[in-house]
Amino acid sequence: MVGFTSLLSLYPSASGGVFTSLNGPTTTADNIHDVIHYQVSDILTGKDHWLNSTTACTYPAPWWTTRQTRSTAVPKISDNFSRDKRDYEGVYGNHATGNLTITLNTTDNKLYFRLGLIGRGVVLPTESANQILFRAEEPLEYIPNIIADVEVKGGEVFSLSLQSYPPEPSVVFERGLKLTDPDPTEPEWDDCTGVSGSPDRTASSNTFAFLLFLAYMFTV
Ligand SMILES: *[C@@H]1O[C@H](CO)[C@@H](O)[C@H](O)[C@H]1NC(C)=O
Ligand SMILES: *[C@@H]1O[C@H](CO)[C@@H](O)[C@H](O)[C@H]1NC(C)=O
Ligand SMILES: *[C@@H]1O[C@H](CO)[C@@H](O)[C@H](O)[C@H]1NC(C)=O
Ligand SMILES: *[C@@H]1O[C@H](CO)[C@@H](O)[C@H](O)[C@H]1NC(C)=O
Repeated sequence: MVGFTSLLSLYPSASGGVFTSLNGPTTTADNIHDVIHYQVSDILTGKDHWLNSTTACTYPAPWWTTRQTRSTAVPKISDNFSRDKRDYEGVYGNHATGNLTITLNTTDNKLYFRLGLIGRGVVLPTESANQILFRAEEPLEYIPNIIADVEVKGGEVFSLSLQSYPPEPSVVFERGLKLTDPDPTEPEWDDCTGVSGSPDRTASSNTFAFLLFLAYMFTV
């Protein structure tokens, strides 16, 4: 089962907005949302359309190639973690989505993660020493396993980067991050307030949309 993805754009100065909601795979849905929102935003803000009947269908070509499902192949699940399971335990923070908590259940000796109110599941080892998988359980058990790159600093697990859909960057969760800490990975949000739809603004708004998607999935 695939859920609905939605996008809301508001243009306060034009007293207007667009809301779209689509079912189907997320990767294709993003392009469809973009095309509709760009077209309506041009109408609302009185600008010339920069997408035409050809590029509306080929979007994101000719500007860039369509998003892939995965940046890398999903690593195979293995029997053992490359480190002691306790090394992964901890609270990992991200400014947009909040804390990701990993705990070892000493009864079944498995690692579990929690993110927000409904993000929970099992952490699995892979054949790649610096990658682990997050397998979500109810109510999100239908989402694909999330690949996390493990970054080690000073011999300890320092951060987990949850892989996204290219060209969007990973979402980094840093161990022990306080909400008051500055965010070194924070993109330039200023670009998101623009109302015209040029390709370079799109890249940051897609990143933003992915963060919102994660925040929505895991914190609603
Ligand atoms: C549509 O836009 C693209 C790029 O902006 C341009 O190359 C192409 O000629 C346009 N096609 C039509 C039918 O206007
Ligand atoms: C995995 O760890 C268990 C003990 O924790 C050990 O018995 C087993 O041999 C290990 N397997 C591999 C493939 O390293
Ligand atoms: C640990 O795992 C066992 C068996 O799956 C389960 O019954 C128990 O509730 C878990 N404990 C915690 C603290 O989640
Ligand atoms: C996230 O964890 C940090 C400690 O690592 C804590 O200071 C902070 O209050 C937590 N934030 C939330 C929203 O629970």
